[in-house]
Amino acid sequence: MNQIKDDITKVLDELSKLKDNLKKIEQIKDVETAIKQFDKVDAIYDKIDDTYNEKTISSLDLDDKIKTELKDKLYDVWVERTLLDDEFDYRGWTIFKTPLTLGFDKRKESIRKALPTDAEILAKWWNDKKIMANTCFPNELGKSVNQIREEIENRPFYNLLFIIQYERKPIGEMNANIKDKVADCGIKICEEEYQDKGIGTFLLQKLFDELFKSEDVVDKISITINANNERAMHVYQDKLHLNKADEFEFEDASFNKQKAIRLEITKQEWKEKRGK
Ligand SMILES: CC(C)(COP(=O)(O)OP(=O)(O)OC[C@H]1O[C@@H](n2cnc3c(N)ncnc32)[C@H](O)[C@@H]1OP(=O)(O)O)[C@@H](O)C(=O)NCCC(=O)NCCS
Repeated sequence: MNQIKDDITKVLDELSKLKDNLKKIEQIKDVETAIKQFDKVDAIYDKIDDTYNEKTISSLDLDDKIKTELKDKLYDVWVERTLLDDEFDYRGWTIFKTPLTLGFDKRKESIRKALPTDAEILAKWWNDKKIMANTCFPNELGKSVNQIREEIENRPFYNLLFIIQYERKPIGEMNANIKDKVADCGIKICEEEYQDKGIGTFLLQKLFDELFKSEDVVDKISITINANNERAMHVYQDKLHLNKADEFEFEDASFNKQKAIRLEITKQEWKEKRGK
């Protein structure tokens, strides 16, 4: 009993220490350090969840009053974790200098952070074989609304998912997964009537500008596309000036062999092309 109490107190102390560290995160320019902090919080929380969840405490041979006391402590830990999560999420977005919603002057298209309530529309798009045939890794195919909602809730801050809106109507999604200073990006304008209107090129330009804006966060942008996707090849190579870096074969959802091409552009190259 005392052991559990001591452990929970220790965990609370550790969480509050981490919270102090996270407050300094604005000064952290290196995203790897920030990620390590985040992983630390997660590891601590997982430990609590595995060992000291409500169910295990209820099953202990202890006085009810003590059990309630422990459950209260557990609740404190949960609150701390939630606060940390919110704070970190917020700080994470600050690191990437990407506000929750990016509206662009008088343009009708915008992007905003994906929310758990977007799970339904994402499930509709991600389970549409016609839409997904354009992509190389249709990992999302077959996911349920609940699975997608859970993923959005637990998405790490460095794996950004945006909803593309046109006059506030969701028309597609964009993503950027940042690792080792490389942002792996993707885009799907899922509602066909909004394709070929310049929206994709414009939003990708804006996303790249945002990703490259921060010091020491993203050095290179990379996109992998299906070699058959001629429109996407034209947009990325001719309009956005990405260079071919690699090509490889992959099996699509119907087990057919297809060719994928990885394109990339460095921060320096992007600045030169954009004249900044
Ligand atoms: C690929 C995609 C992002 C492009 O965005 P978009 O807003 O539709 O494209 P834009 O209007 O900005 O530009 C399209 C360009 O491709 C050209 N184009 C259209 N169809 C084409 C084709 N079959 N082959 C070659 N070029 C084509 C257009 O003429 C235009 O070029 P231009 O401005 O030089 O005339 C968008 O169509 C999309 O999301 N498609 C579905 C999913 C997908 O393919 N995602 C990419 C895989 S990661």
